[in-house]
Amino acid sequence: MKIRENIAIAELTTMRLGGAARYVIDIEEDKDLAEAYKFAREQNLPTYILGGGSNVIGRDGGFNGAVLVNKLRGIYVIDSDEQSIRLCAKSGELLDDLVEYSVKLWNGESYGYSGIEALSKIPGTVGAMPVQNVGAYGQETKQVLHAVCVYDYQDNCFKHMMADELDLGYRHSVFNSGDGVGRYFISSVTLELNKTWLQPPFYTSLQTYLDEREITNFTPQVIRDAVAEIRASKLPNPAKEASAGSFFKNVYLDEAKAAEAAAKGIPVWEGGKIPSGWLIENAGLKGKEFYGMRVSDKAALVLINDHAASYADLAKARQAVIDAVEAKFGYRLEQEPMELGDA
Ligand code: EPU
Repeated sequence: MKIRENIAIAELTTMRLGGAARYVIDIEEDKDLAEAYKFAREQNLPTYILGGGSNVIGRDGGFNGAVLVNKLRGIYVIDSDEQSIRLCAKSGELLDDLVEYSVKLWNGESYGYSGIEALSKIPGTVGAMPVQNVGAYGQETKQVLHAVCVYDYQDNCFKHMMADELDLGYRHSVFNSGDGVGRYFISSVTLELNKTWLQPPFYTSLQTYLDEREITNFTPQVIRDAVAEIRASKLPNPAKEASAGSFFKNVYLDEAKAAEAAAKGIPVWEGGKIPSGWLIENAGLKGKEFYGMRVSDKAALVLINDHAASYADLAKARQAVIDAVEAKFGYRLEQEPMELGDA
């Protein structure tokens, strides 16, 4: 277990903002967990778990506590039958490495198991999957998650939790809401993947991509490659531009409100979803810069940190976007990424 002191949260997160964390502890093996929590408890310090830092925004006041950085590694096949396979992945693995592994695995007839191929090129770690029910291009964690193994900080022991105990919803779970926040360190996830390929209709932008290229062979590898190309053309590469992916959640409306919105010419998707990217773009904000933060000109849902000096700048930029969208359409956007530290 490696402990470092006074590390800027900006260095640990892809938005590259935030003051110093008092301690940063690398969790390299399961046994480090009990030790790390003991260390924090003895000093009466709070803890915060970080994976790749791609969906967490650091605040200016820093964090007077211990950030536990997830470095747990390993992917194992634990069970399989004619049709499906169960994979156990340690939570510190990169999600994209797990996808790569799954699409290259021999299934007895061809290469690849289906279930997470549309989650290709999402930055971040496997541990984030159950926390916010990571989803993209028509697939979401909830559809494939079987169980998780967690370290429970409250009871000081490892526990096995089944997927249906996790209250998985849109960007939501027991891990990011209510009493569950900060209580569990996810050590591994077990996924159930299938031999059967995805079938159309696909998520709109994926369908367009496949139609344009007349692709009809929807192997997991083909879908992975398609999603990778779509993402590369739309979403900033965190290595080049500082961002936290989608900065706002999409808006979900009940049936009556959705019908009202549709009547006004606002796009309403399945489940009453209004794409917030559309609202931001049609409020005229695409490519606009506020306090060093820029609304991406490729995907309006993404805020890029061009040269914001602080979290305070980001907060002002966020407000400017929320206000402009509310003034034009009457919907109040909500932030998607989590936050770490004191304001
Ligand atoms: N749109 C615009 N202008 C824009 C962007 C989007 O008009 O600048 C409209 C279009 O109508 C487009 C629709 O919004 O068809 C949906 O856009 P897109 O498919 O790009 O997805 P999104 O709603 O912007 C969500 C997730 C992404 C995920 C994609 C693909 C959230 C908050 N975001 O974005 O997740 O990759 O769908 O499934 O749900 C993330 O969470 O960080 C993230 C990138």
